[in-house]
Amino acid sequence: MSVTSGADIQLSQVIKTFQTGASPTPVLKGVDLHVGAGETIAITGASGSGKTTLLQLIGALDTADSGEVRVNGRELATLDEEARAQFRNREVGFVFQSHILLPQLTALENVLVPTWAAPQTHALEHSARANYLLERVGLADRKTHFPGQLSGGECQRVAVARALIMKPSLLLADEPTGSLDYDTAQRLLDLLLALNAEEGATFLLVTHARDCARRMTRQVELRNGVIHPL
Ligand SMILES: Nc1ncnc2c1ncn2[C@@H]1O[C@H](COP(=O)(O)OP(=O)(O)O)[C@@H](O)[C@H]1O
Ligand SMILES: [Mg+2]
Repeated sequence: MSVTSGADIQLSQVIKTFQTGASPTPVLKGVDLHVGAGETIAITGASGSGKTTLLQLIGALDTADSGEVRVNGRELATLDEEARAQFRNREVGFVFQSHILLPQLTALENVLVPTWAAPQTHALEHSARANYLLERVGLADRKTHFPGQLSGGECQRVAVARALIMKPSLLLADEPTGSLDYDTAQRLLDLLLALNAEEGATFLLVTHARDCARRMTRQVELRNGVIHPL
């Protein structure tokens, strides 16, 4: 497999306030953060501190009120909707706390979902990579199982394979081990780190678990709307 080059992430004075209900909720109050290409970083912080919000801005799932989010120098706010969709699909791999697999599709079909937006001329290549990734995450004999026939940890490993299918240059994981027991969580993180080391994507991990955070090359905490080094 070819090595992906990781994305360079630069956030400058990022501000995000939610305007729900009577009073506005300021969440990000001027976030400055640089994550170099291929770096692995843990983002910790109390529940409600804005970790998911931050990841959604970096993954172009939402937009900041002000400030800049640059990925490889490109300011995400300047991209039109089609370019944002393409960025999310081709350059970002997302792993969420709950795996969000489609229940009516097999493990293999779930891994292939992100490829539906790509030209079908690559179908064979995609199929080969999906099979490879499912083998790498230890699910060689579960490819035709449906999510309902898999354990929580197995579903999360399918979600990891799905996140990596397009060879993203940026891997965003939002408490991916949050619903797993300790051993299963450690094994999932082992896998994420091993696959990531091979493919070189920049890896941002949101986690509550200190022992998970320590396995990344750098750790920061989101507190009072800004980033603090740990
Ligand atoms: N779409 C939204 N609309 C209104 N408020 C939101 C929205 N998303 C998040 N919030 C609020 O922003 C704060 C930060 O949320 P979040 O980023 O999910 O925190 P974390 O992931 O660190 O637990 C919380 O107070 C949450 O209620
Ligand atoms: Mg969250």
